[in-house]
Amino acid sequence: MGSFIRVLVCVHMFMLFHFFACLSSHHSCHSKESSALLHFINTELSFDTDFSYEDDCPQLFPKTSTWRNGTDCCSWMGVTCHSVSGHVIGLDLSCSILKGKIHPNSTLFQLTHLQTLNLALNNISGPELPSQFGRFVSLTHLNLSDCDFKGEIPSQISHLSKLQSLDLSWNDGLIWKEITWKRMLQNATGLREIILDGANMSSITTTFSNWSFSLVTLSLVHTGIRGHLTSHILCLPNLYELYLSENQNIQVHVPKLNCSTSLNFLDLSWCQFPRSQIPPSFSNLTHLTYLDLSYNTFTSPIPSFFSNLQHLTHLDLSFNEFSGSIPSFLSNLQHLTHLDLSYNRFNGQFPKVIGQLTKLQTLILAGNNLGGKLLLSSLANLTQISQLDCSHNKFQGPLL
Ligand SMILES: *[C@@H]1O[C@H](CO)[C@@H](O)[C@H](O)[C@H]1NC(C)=O
Ligand SMILES: *[C@@H]1O[C@H](CO)[C@@H](O)[C@H](O)[C@H]1NC(C)=O
Ligand SMILES: *[C@@H]1O[C@H](CO)[C@@H](O)[C@H](O)[C@H]1NC(C)=O
Ligand SMILES: *[C@@H]1O[C@H](CO)[C@@H](O)[C@H](O)[C@H]1NC(C)=O
Ligand SMILES: *[C@@H]1O[C@H](CO)[C@@H](O)[C@H](O)[C@H]1NC(C)=O
Ligand SMILES: *[C@@H]1O[C@H](CO)[C@@H](O)[C@H](O)[C@H]1NC(C)=O
Ligand SMILES: *[C@@H]1O[C@H](CO)[C@@H](O)[C@H](O)[C@H]1NC(C)=O
Ligand SMILES: *[C@@H]1O[C@H](CO)[C@@H](O)[C@H](O)[C@H]1NC(C)=O
Ligand SMILES: *[C@@H]1O[C@H](CO)[C@@H](O)[C@H](O)[C@H]1NC(C)=O
Ligand SMILES: *[C@@H]1O[C@H](CO)[C@@H](O)[C@H](O)[C@H]1NC(C)=O
Repeated sequence: MGSFIRVLVCVHMFMLFHFFACLSSHHSCHSKESSALLHFINTELSFDTDFSYEDDCPQLFPKTSTWRNGTDCCSWMGVTCHSVSGHVIGLDLSCSILKGKIHPNSTLFQLTHLQTLNLALNNISGPELPSQFGRFVSLTHLNLSDCDFKGEIPSQISHLSKLQSLDLSWNDGLIWKEITWKRMLQNATGLREIILDGANMSSITTTFSNWSFSLVTLSLVHTGIRGHLTSHILCLPNLYELYLSENQNIQVHVPKLNCSTSLNFLDLSWCQFPRSQIPPSFSNLTHLTYLDLSYNTFTSPIPSFFSNLQHLTHLDLSFNEFSGSIPSFLSNLQHLTHLDLSYNRFNGQFPKVIGQLTKLQTLILAGNNLGGKLLLSSLANLTQISQLDCSHNKFQGPLL
């Protein structure tokens, strides 16, 4: 009996031991990583007393103020550990009211198991982006948007061959060299999201070839990138969003679109394309829900193929040189909620056809040569409308 109890106690102890062993191996943080995190936060960074990110952050909170030495770092806010190895694999300190500089000797770079790193929307800067970021070879997600890094992107960025999402937008003019850019695209073949708005890519001439087939989102707003927008990129099988506004050195060269695209969002505003017509191949972008071609110099009447783009909810053709009357086939675009045709050369009568776009919330026709009577009564069915601007036209007589 006694030995039976002893055996039971033994089994029990054994299980308890395993239970705690499991607990520690599954959840507790490695002490080296714990002190690396604490050093990074307490010595290299501090809280920003006059932060200015209220508008961009859904939630602004000093996550690291809850971190305590001696507690398990895997339980700290913003920290994620691997469930088996216990290594820190995720660090999300976005919108955490931090300021400071990341030097090449930062203890951040000791977290070599990181798979996701997000320091977005803090007052964190370099001076340059340290080449040590290239050590994070397991990274799938890197987000340093709205930090304050300057200078050249280190060539070691191309070591991050597992990247799926890269967001370096709105730093202080981070400069991409062509060779670095090409190597990154060749190595990181699983990239799904590339967001580099505000970077300096003026030395890159791209034919928009050699993109990852996985690409879903490409945003290169205000980068100065050169080259041609070709069918090559528009035909990427998974491309869903393409934002290229404010790039005056790209040209659209899409004579034919020999593919079915999945593109939903296309923004080519402020590109100042030389006086031209919208390429007929755009008629094949039938999945578009969002199209912004404003602030260019597109001419001629709105092409009739727009009646194919039946999923559009947002159409902005403002500040171009479109002419002719506002065509009746726009009534095919039954999902439109936002229609801006302002500051073109449209003429003719008030377009009654618009009264059939019953989902419209915003309608802007200002700054054209529309004449005759302003037939507001024809808009009686636009029950959702919240913004209507018909100013700066040639309407006459009473409002009807
Ligand atoms: C970042 O902090 C510096 C001083 O530490 C300050 O001059 C600068 O305005 C801050 N930037 C932002 C975006 O808050
Ligand atoms: C954390 O606590 C340990 C033990 O008390 C101490 O040795 C270490 O210096 C502390 N680390 C930091 C960053 O305060
Ligand atoms: C890291 O480098 C910076 C700048 O070179 C220096 O000021 C700082 O003392 C260094 N920190 C450590 C822990 O060596
Ligand atoms: C980067 O982080 C910011 C702040 O959390 C977020 O708004 C943005 O969408 C992130 N970028 C990507 C590509 O997820
Ligand atoms: C591509 O990625 C691998 C793995 O990280 C790395 O060893 C190699 O140096 C990278 N190649 C380039 C050109 O960066
Ligand atoms: C972009 O970087 C180049 C150097 O590659 C520099 O000459 C140019 O002035 C930069 N452009 C802007 C707008 O900062
Ligand atoms: C595309 O990638 C291949 C190999 O990955 C390379 O040989 C070719 O030069 C690249 N083309 C461009 C335009 O970068
Ligand atoms: C549209 O796509 C079809 C089918 O892929 C193709 O035959 C046609 O030439 C394309 N039209 C234009 C203008 O690109
Ligand atoms: C269109 O695609 C087909 C099949 O992918 C190809 O054989 C043909 O050469 C392409 N035509 C053009 C004009 O690119
Ligand atoms: C509003 O809708 C009703 C019902 O569909 C229709 O009979 C009427 O003619 C429409 N009014 C205008 C001004 O389009």
